[in-house]
Amino acid sequence: MDVRQTAGLLGRLALEDPGFEHRLSEALERAEKWLQSTAHGSLDPRVAALTGHLADAGGKRLRPLLVLLGAEFGEPWRDGVTQAAVIAELVHIASLYHDDVMDEAETRHGVPSAHARWGERAAVLGGDWLLARAAQLAADLGPGAVHLNAQAAGRLVAGQLRELSGPGPDMDPVTHYFQVTEGKTAALLSMSLGIGALQAGTAAPEVAALTEYGEQLGIAFQIADDLLDLSSPAELTGKQRGKDLLAGVPSLPVVLAREGADPADAELRDLLADGPLAPADADRALALFARSSALTETEAVLRRRLDRAREALRALPPLPARRALHALCDYVALRTS
Ligand code: IPE
Ligand code: IPE
Ligand code: MG
Ligand code: MG
Repeated sequence: MDVRQTAGLLGRLALEDPGFEHRLSEALERAEKWLQSTAHGSLDPRVAALTGHLADAGGKRLRPLLVLLGAEFGEPWRDGVTQAAVIAELVHIASLYHDDVMDEAETRHGVPSAHARWGERAAVLGGDWLLARAAQLAADLGPGAVHLNAQAAGRLVAGQLRELSGPGPDMDPVTHYFQVTEGKTAALLSMSLGIGALQAGTAAPEVAALTEYGEQLGIAFQIADDLLDLSSPAELTGKQRGKDLLAGVPSLPVVLAREGADPADAELRDLLADGPLAPADADRALALFARSSALTETEAVLRRRLDRAREALRALPPLPARRALHALCDYVALRTS
């Protein structure tokens, strides 16, 4: 993987505690080696090329970091913490194989997506294989980890299915958005903190605070990701700018633009009314978004979720890991990649 990105994420948190940062960085490297060997761990080299593709291509490794930070509230040196970090990233990477098929995304981490390279059926099966590997690793850790892994993977896929089926005629699209997001993104961020805490033997009230933080951070993280689709160039995200708009993904800014009543957003509403945007309209829509009230409102929802995440941290002791979790909120608020 791109170790610079992991170092980058830790570095961007500005933890000002070199000893703590060094310990986290070493633990992330151990998890990374394990992740690589697991993702490439098929005896058939063609399967290994497919299943190792996105693990190789990079990523921020946010979920392994959350596992390690969750473990800091117990005994982080315990057996099973590193393995839990690998499980969380495997589930994440598996979901990206599936997600890129759903969103018809051609690139991921700046390289061709798995389905662009091997076709849709192989990409879906590659994702399934990685989910199976995560389940195998969880089985080694015992029933608590099996339960958390199964629950998170189930919520994640249910969120993706909900996104696929849409809100239905009687459902409020904003409510639907949050249901989708709680499943497809928040469930795994929350589980990452929970499984790290579990493996480290953390006390129950602290586990509850950590998983609540993960739920709120997860929703905020997805909203920030939705905003990046509108604003951030491909060189930073490794994903094509405006890809959600072109694929008709009902991101929060899109849903709020469609549902809004601001007369100044009327042209944008018209452009978004019929699902996927025509490629010829993409530049115009991006320009309209930049000064829309849908964008301002989305940013306000993002800030409120981050406030709720910070609120959950109040129940935790003032360890360096709590400062790191605070810093992650600031990072999500200012995310550019
Ligand atoms: C991307 O997650 C999918 C979402 C949940 C928005 P990340 O931004 O964490 O993916 P990486 O860093 O590319 O792996
Ligand atoms: C994906 O959300 C969340 C999961 C990976 C399940 P997005 O569709 O917004 O993720 P990107 O933008 O493709 O990374
Ligand atoms: Mg996507
Ligand atoms: Mg996205």
